[in-house]
Amino acid sequence: MKITNLIETDQTSLHQTTFLTDVIAGLSAEQKSISAKYFYDDIGSELFQKITQHPDYYPTRTEFSILEKISAILPTTINEAEIDIIELGAGDGHKSELIINGFLDKHCKVNFYPIDISEKAMQLLGENLSINASLHVHGIVADYFHGLNHLKKISNNRKLVLFLGSNIGNFNKAQTDEFLHQLEANLNIGDYVLIGFDLKKDVHILNQAYNDSDSLTRVFNLNLLSRMNRELGAHFDVSAFQHYGFYNPVLGAMESYLISLKDQTVAIDTADMQFHFKQHEVLHLEYSHKFSTTGIEKLATRNGFEIAQLFSDDRDYFIDALWKVTSPMEKMT
Ligand code: AVI
Repeated sequence: MKITNLIETDQTSLHQTTFLTDVIAGLSAEQKSISAKYFYDDIGSELFQKITQHPDYYPTRTEFSILEKISAILPTTINEAEIDIIELGAGDGHKSELIINGFLDKHCKVNFYPIDISEKAMQLLGENLSINASLHVHGIVADYFHGLNHLKKISNNRKLVLFLGSNIGNFNKAQTDEFLHQLEANLNIGDYVLIGFDLKKDVHILNQAYNDSDSLTRVFNLNLLSRMNRELGAHFDVSAFQHYGFYNPVLGAMESYLISLKDQTVAIDTADMQFHFKQHEVLHLEYSHKFSTTGIEKLATRNGFEIAQLFSDDRDYFIDALWKVTSPMEKMT
Protein backbone atom coordinates (compact mmCIF):
# COMPACT_ATOMS: atom_id res chain seq x y z
CA MET A 1 0.00 0.00 0.00
CA LYS A 2 1.30 3.43 -0.91
CA ILE A 3 1.33 5.87 2.06
CA THR A 4 1.53 9.65 1.85
CA ASN A 5 2.45 11.43 5.07
CA LEU A 6 1.17 15.02 5.10
CA ILE A 7 2.45 15.66 8.62
CA GLU A 8 5.60 17.74 8.60
CA THR A 9 6.45 18.41 12.24
CA ASP A 10 7.61 15.91 14.86
CA GLN A 11 4.12 14.68 15.74
CA THR A 12 5.15 12.49 18.67
CA SER A 13 6.49 15.34 20.78
CA LEU A 14 3.73 17.69 19.58
CA HIS A 15 1.14 15.08 20.53
CA GLN A 16 2.66 14.60 24.01
CA THR A 17 2.66 18.37 24.61
CA THR A 18 -0.99 18.66 23.58
CA PHE A 19 -1.93 15.66 25.74
CA LEU A 20 -0.26 17.24 28.79
CA THR A 21 -1.77 20.69 28.12
CA ASP A 22 -5.26 19.17 27.73
CA VAL A 23 -4.86 17.07 30.89
CA ILE A 24 -3.76 20.10 32.95
CA ALA A 25 -6.68 22.16 31.63
CA GLY A 26 -9.13 19.31 32.21
CA LEU A 27 -7.99 18.58 35.77
CA SER A 28 -7.87 22.27 36.69
CA ALA A 29 -11.50 22.91 35.71
CA GLU A 30 -14.34 23.12 38.22
CA GLN A 31 -15.81 19.95 36.67
CA LYS A 32 -12.77 17.78 35.97
CA SER A 33 -12.71 16.12 32.55
CA ILE A 34 -10.37 14.54 30.01
CA SER A 35 -11.31 14.14 26.36
CA ALA A 36 -12.30 10.63 25.25
CA LYS A 37 -9.98 10.99 22.27
CA TYR A 38 -7.14 10.12 24.67
CA PHE A 39 -8.58 6.61 25.28
CA TYR A 40 -6.84 5.32 22.18
CA ASP A 41 -3.20 4.61 22.92
CA ASP A 42 -2.05 1.12 21.83
CA ILE A 43 -3.52 -0.55 24.95
CA GLY A 44 -6.75 1.46 24.72
CA SER A 45 -7.16 0.64 21.02
CA GLU A 46 -6.68 -3.05 21.74
CA LEU A 47 -9.24 -2.88 24.57
CA PHE A 48 -11.69 -1.09 22.29
CA GLN A 49 -11.28 -3.85 19.67
CA LYS A 50 -12.21 -6.38 22.40
CA ILE A 51 -15.24 -4.28 23.41
CA THR A 52 -16.48 -4.26 19.80
CA GLN A 53 -16.50 -8.07 19.85
CA HIS A 54 -18.24 -8.40 23.22
CA PRO A 55 -21.84 -9.76 23.13
CA ASP A 56 -23.08 -6.81 25.26
CA TYR A 57 -21.69 -4.17 22.89
CA TYR A 58 -24.21 -4.34 20.03
CA PRO A 59 -23.15 -1.34 17.80
CA THR A 60 -20.26 -2.93 15.86
CA ARG A 61 -22.07 -6.21 15.12
CA THR A 62 -25.23 -4.35 14.19
CA GLU A 63 -23.51 -1.93 11.84
CA PHE A 64 -21.66 -4.84 10.22
CA SER A 65 -24.99 -6.54 9.48
CA ILE A 66 -26.27 -3.34 7.84
CA LEU A 67 -23.14 -2.99 5.71
CA GLU A 68 -23.40 -6.64 4.60
CA LYS A 69 -26.93 -5.90 3.45
CA ILE A 70 -26.17 -2.64 1.62
CA SER A 71 -22.80 -3.39 0.02
CA ALA A 72 -24.61 -4.45 -3.17
CA ILE A 73 -27.02 -1.48 -3.02
CA LEU A 74 -24.48 1.35 -2.68
CA PRO A 75 -22.81 0.85 -6.12
CA THR A 76 -26.24 0.88 -7.78
CA THR A 77 -27.30 4.10 -6.01
CA ILE A 78 -23.98 5.84 -6.63
CA ASN A 79 -23.52 4.31 -10.10
CA GLU A 80 -19.99 5.28 -11.18
CA ALA A 81 -17.36 3.43 -13.25
CA GLU A 82 -14.63 4.59 -10.85
CA ILE A 83 -14.91 5.89 -7.30
CA ASP A 84 -12.68 7.23 -4.51
CA ILE A 85 -13.71 5.64 -1.21
CA ILE A 86 -12.24 7.55 1.72
CA GLU A 87 -12.34 6.20 5.24
CA LEU A 88 -11.92 8.65 8.12
CA GLY A 89 -10.02 6.69 10.77
CA ALA A 90 -8.20 3.58 9.59
CA GLY A 91 -10.17 0.98 11.64
CA ASP A 92 -9.37 -2.69 11.09
CA GLY A 93 -10.54 -2.68 7.47
CA HIS A 94 -13.36 -5.24 7.85
CA LYS A 95 -16.21 -2.77 7.37
CA SER A 96 -14.53 -0.85 4.56
CA GLU A 97 -13.64 -4.11 2.82
CA LEU A 98 -17.34 -5.04 2.70
CA ILE A 99 -18.17 -1.76 0.97
CA ILE A 100 -15.18 -1.89 -1.37
CA ASN A 101 -16.04 -5.46 -2.44
CA GLY A 102 -19.60 -4.36 -3.25
CA PHE A 103 -18.22 -1.85 -5.77
CA LEU A 104 -15.64 -4.29 -7.16
CA ASP A 105 -18.37 -6.92 -7.67
CA LYS A 106 -20.23 -4.39 -9.84
CA HIS A 107 -17.02 -3.87 -11.87
CA CYS A 108 -16.41 -0.41 -10.49
CA LYS A 109 -12.76 0.61 -10.16
CA VAL A 110 -12.05 1.62 -6.54
CA ASN A 111 -9.40 3.95 -5.16
CA PHE A 112 -9.41 3.46 -1.40
CA TYR A 113 -7.89 6.24 0.69
CA PRO A 114 -7.91 5.63 4.46
CA ILE A 115 -7.02 8.84 6.31
CA ASP A 116 -5.60 8.56 9.80
CA ILE A 117 -3.30 10.60 11.99
CA SER A 118 -1.46 7.39 13.00
CA GLU A 119 0.89 5.82 10.45
CA LYS A 120 0.92 2.64 12.56
CA ALA A 121 -2.88 2.24 12.30
CA MET A 122 -2.55 2.79 8.56
CA GLN A 123 0.05 0.06 8.13
CA LEU A 124 -2.09 -2.43 10.08
CA LEU A 125 -5.04 -1.66 7.83
CA GLY A 126 -2.87 -2.16 4.73
CA GLU A 127 -1.93 -5.64 5.97
CA ASN A 128 -5.61 -6.59 6.36
CA LEU A 129 -6.83 -5.57 2.91
CA SER A 130 -6.74 -8.17 0.17
CA ILE A 131 -5.17 -7.39 -3.20
CA ASN A 132 -7.34 -6.90 -6.29
CA ALA A 133 -6.35 -5.52 -9.71
CA SER A 134 -9.29 -3.04 -9.71
CA LEU A 135 -8.45 -1.80 -6.21
CA HIS A 136 -5.87 0.86 -5.58
CA VAL A 137 -5.11 1.53 -1.88
CA HIS A 138 -3.37 4.72 -0.84
CA GLY A 139 -3.11 5.64 2.84
CA ILE A 140 -2.99 9.31 3.83
CA VAL A 141 -1.38 10.12 7.18
CA ALA A 142 -2.98 13.44 8.13
CA ASP A 143 -5.81 14.94 10.11
CA TYR A 144 -9.13 14.25 8.39
CA PHE A 145 -9.72 17.58 6.68
CA HIS A 146 -6.15 18.20 5.61
CA GLY A 147 -6.28 14.72 4.02
CA LEU A 148 -9.65 15.36 2.33
CA ASN A 149 -8.48 18.70 0.98
CA HIS A 150 -5.41 17.00 -0.48
CA LEU A 151 -7.62 14.39 -2.21
CA LYS A 152 -9.93 17.05 -3.62
CA LYS A 153 -6.89 18.51 -5.37
CA ILE A 154 -5.42 15.27 -6.75
CA SER A 155 -8.57 13.49 -8.00
CA ASN A 156 -11.79 14.45 -9.78
CA ASN A 157 -13.51 11.12 -9.17
CA ARG A 158 -16.84 10.92 -7.37
CA LYS A 159 -16.12 10.45 -3.67
CA LEU A 160 -17.74 8.36 -0.95
CA VAL A 161 -16.51 9.22 2.55
CA LEU A 162 -16.99 6.60 5.28
CA PHE A 163 -17.32 7.74 8.90
CA LEU A 164 -18.55 4.56 10.54
CA GLY A 165 -18.97 3.10 14.02
CA SER A 166 -21.02 6.02 15.40
CA ASN A 167 -17.77 7.82 16.11
CA ILE A 168 -19.83 10.96 15.47
CA GLY A 169 -21.63 10.23 18.76
CA ASN A 170 -18.48 11.01 20.74
CA PHE A 171 -18.55 14.66 19.59
CA ASN A 172 -20.60 17.27 21.42
CA LYS A 173 -23.25 19.19 19.45
CA ALA A 174 -20.93 22.05 18.43
CA GLN A 175 -18.16 19.63 17.39
CA THR A 176 -20.67 17.60 15.33
CA ASP A 177 -21.78 20.65 13.35
CA GLU A 178 -18.18 21.82 12.91
CA PHE A 179 -17.16 18.35 11.71
CA LEU A 180 -20.05 18.06 9.22
CA HIS A 181 -19.50 21.58 7.97
CA GLN A 182 -15.81 20.88 7.35
CA LEU A 183 -16.68 17.59 5.68
CA GLU A 184 -19.09 19.29 3.30
CA ALA A 185 -16.62 22.10 2.57
CA ASN A 186 -13.93 19.60 1.53
CA LEU A 187 -16.16 17.70 -0.93
CA ASN A 188 -17.78 18.51 -4.28
CA ILE A 189 -21.49 18.71 -5.03
CA GLY A 190 -22.74 15.20 -5.76
CA ASP A 191 -20.18 13.47 -3.52
CA TYR A 192 -21.48 11.08 -0.85
CA VAL A 193 -20.83 10.36 2.82
CA LEU A 194 -21.88 7.22 4.71
CA ILE A 195 -22.12 7.94 8.44
CA GLY A 196 -22.88 5.46 11.22
CA PHE A 197 -25.34 6.62 13.90
CA ASP A 198 -26.23 4.63 17.01
CA LEU A 199 -29.95 5.06 17.70
CA LYS A 200 -31.90 5.76 20.90
CA LYS A 201 -33.25 2.54 22.35
CA ASP A 202 -34.26 0.76 25.56
CA VAL A 203 -32.04 2.21 28.29
CA HIS A 204 -31.23 -1.25 29.69
CA ILE A 205 -29.63 -2.28 26.40
CA LEU A 206 -27.62 0.94 26.35
CA ASN A 207 -26.49 0.64 29.95
CA GLN A 208 -25.48 -3.00 29.44
CA ALA A 209 -23.42 -2.13 26.35
CA TYR A 210 -21.34 0.38 28.33
CA ASN A 211 -21.17 -1.76 31.49
CA ASP A 212 -20.32 -5.09 29.89
CA SER A 213 -20.34 -8.26 31.95
CA ASP A 214 -16.57 -8.75 31.56
CA SER A 215 -15.75 -5.19 32.70
CA LEU A 216 -13.87 -4.44 29.49
CA THR A 217 -15.37 -0.94 29.39
CA ARG A 218 -14.36 -0.36 32.99
CA VAL A 219 -10.75 -1.32 32.20
CA PHE A 220 -10.90 0.76 28.99
CA ASN A 221 -11.86 3.85 31.03
CA LEU A 222 -9.32 3.21 33.80
CA ASN A 223 -6.60 2.74 31.17
CA LEU A 224 -6.71 6.49 30.65
CA LEU A 225 -5.35 6.91 34.20
CA SER A 226 -2.65 4.31 33.51
CA ARG A 227 -1.84 6.07 30.25
CA MET A 228 -1.25 9.34 32.13
CA ASN A 229 0.98 7.42 34.55
CA ARG A 230 2.97 5.92 31.66
CA GLU A 231 3.25 8.96 29.41
CA LEU A 232 3.03 12.01 31.68
CA GLY A 233 4.65 10.71 34.86
CA ALA A 234 1.32 10.92 36.69
CA HIS A 235 0.76 8.97 39.92
CA PHE A 236 -2.89 7.87 39.70
CA ASP A 237 -3.85 4.98 41.98
CA VAL A 238 -6.13 3.22 39.50
CA SER A 239 -7.77 1.16 42.27
CA ALA A 240 -8.94 4.39 43.96
CA PHE A 241 -11.35 5.26 41.11
CA GLN A 242 -14.67 3.69 40.17
CA HIS A 243 -16.03 3.51 36.62
CA TYR A 244 -19.60 4.86 36.27
CA GLY A 245 -21.36 4.79 32.93
CA PHE A 246 -25.06 5.55 32.48
CA TYR A 247 -27.57 6.73 29.90
CA ASN A 248 -28.76 10.31 30.35
CA PRO A 249 -32.17 10.48 28.62
CA VAL A 250 -32.25 14.30 28.77
CA LEU A 251 -28.99 14.55 26.85
CA GLY A 252 -29.70 11.43 24.77
CA ALA A 253 -26.19 10.20 25.54
CA MET A 254 -24.24 7.62 27.45
CA GLU A 255 -21.96 9.38 29.91
CA SER A 256 -18.79 7.90 31.38
CA TYR A 257 -17.19 9.04 34.59
CA LEU A 258 -14.48 7.94 36.98
CA ILE A 259 -15.41 8.61 40.59
CA SER A 260 -12.76 9.14 43.24
CA LEU A 261 -13.25 6.60 46.06
CA LYS A 262 -11.36 8.74 48.59
CA ASP A 263 -9.76 12.12 49.21
CA GLN A 264 -6.53 11.98 47.25
CA THR A 265 -3.84 14.11 45.65
CA VAL A 266 -2.32 13.05 42.36
CA ALA A 267 1.04 14.40 41.21
CA ILE A 268 1.96 14.77 37.56
CA ASP A 269 5.75 14.91 37.34
CA THR A 270 6.10 16.28 33.79
CA ALA A 271 3.91 19.26 34.76
CA ASP A 272 5.37 19.53 38.25
CA MET A 273 1.78 19.89 39.49
CA GLN A 274 -0.61 18.18 41.90
CA PHE A 275 -4.37 17.75 41.57
CA HIS A 276 -6.71 17.11 44.45
CA PHE A 277 -9.73 14.83 44.22
CA LYS A 278 -12.32 14.92 46.98
CA GLN A 279 -14.03 11.65 47.91
CA HIS A 280 -16.93 11.09 45.41
CA GLU A 281 -15.60 13.75 43.05
CA VAL A 282 -16.20 12.87 39.39
CA LEU A 283 -13.89 12.99 36.39
CA HIS A 284 -15.86 13.12 33.13
CA LEU A 285 -14.43 11.08 30.27
CA GLU A 286 -16.94 10.42 27.49
CA TYR A 287 -20.26 11.23 25.87
CA SER A 288 -21.67 8.74 23.38
CA HIS A 289 -24.71 10.40 21.83
CA LYS A 290 -27.62 8.35 20.57
CA PHE A 291 -29.68 9.63 17.64
CA SER A 292 -33.22 9.63 16.20
CA THR A 293 -34.16 9.58 12.51
CA THR A 294 -35.46 13.15 12.79
CA GLY A 295 -32.23 14.23 14.44
CA ILE A 296 -30.19 12.65 11.63
CA GLU A 297 -32.32 14.43 9.00
CA LYS A 298 -31.86 17.79 10.72
CA LEU A 299 -28.10 17.28 10.98
CA ALA A 300 -27.92 16.56 7.25
CA THR A 301 -29.93 19.53 6.03
CA ARG A 302 -28.41 22.14 8.30
CA ASN A 303 -24.92 21.12 7.15
CA GLY A 304 -25.43 21.12 3.38
CA PHE A 305 -26.34 17.49 2.71
CA GLU A 306 -29.47 15.76 1.45
CA ILE A 307 -30.44 12.28 2.57
CA ALA A 308 -29.98 9.76 -0.24
CA GLN A 309 -30.94 6.72 1.88
CA LEU A 310 -31.11 5.63 5.51
CA PHE A 311 -30.19 2.00 6.14
CA SER A 312 -31.22 0.34 9.39
CA ASP A 313 -31.08 -3.13 10.93
CA ASP A 314 -34.01 -5.41 11.82
CA ARG A 315 -34.21 -4.09 15.41
CA ASP A 316 -33.73 -0.39 14.51
CA TYR A 317 -30.67 -0.18 16.74
CA PHE A 318 -28.39 1.62 14.29
CA ILE A 319 -28.50 3.62 11.05
CA ASP A 320 -25.92 4.01 8.33
CA ALA A 321 -26.97 7.21 6.59
CA LEU A 322 -26.01 7.86 2.97
CA TRP A 323 -25.94 11.63 2.42
CA LYS A 324 -25.21 13.54 -0.76
CA VAL A 325 -23.52 16.96 -0.86
CA THR A 326 -25.89 19.73 -2.00
CA SER A 327 -25.61 23.44 -1.10
CA PRO A 328 -24.70 24.86 -4.57
CA MET A 329 -24.72 28.41 -3.18
CA GLU A 330 -21.78 27.82 -0.87
CA LYS A 331 -19.84 25.85 -3.47
CA MET A 332 -20.10 28.71 -5.99
CA THR A 333 -18.48 31.26 -3.69
C1 AVI B 1 -15.67 4.83 19.50
N1 AVI B 1 -17.04 5.03 20.03
C2 AVI B 1 -18.01 5.08 18.95
C3 AVI B 1 -17.39 4.12 21.13
C4 AVI B 1 -18.83 4.42 21.62
O1 AVI B 1 -19.63 3.50 21.69
O2 AVI B 1 -19.12 5.59 21.89
C5 AVI B 1 -16.43 4.23 22.27
C6 AVI B 1 -16.80 3.38 23.45
N2 AVI B 1 -16.85 3.79 24.69
C7 AVI B 1 -17.21 2.82 25.48
N3 AVI B 1 -17.45 1.75 24.73
C8 AVI B 1 -17.19 2.08 23.48
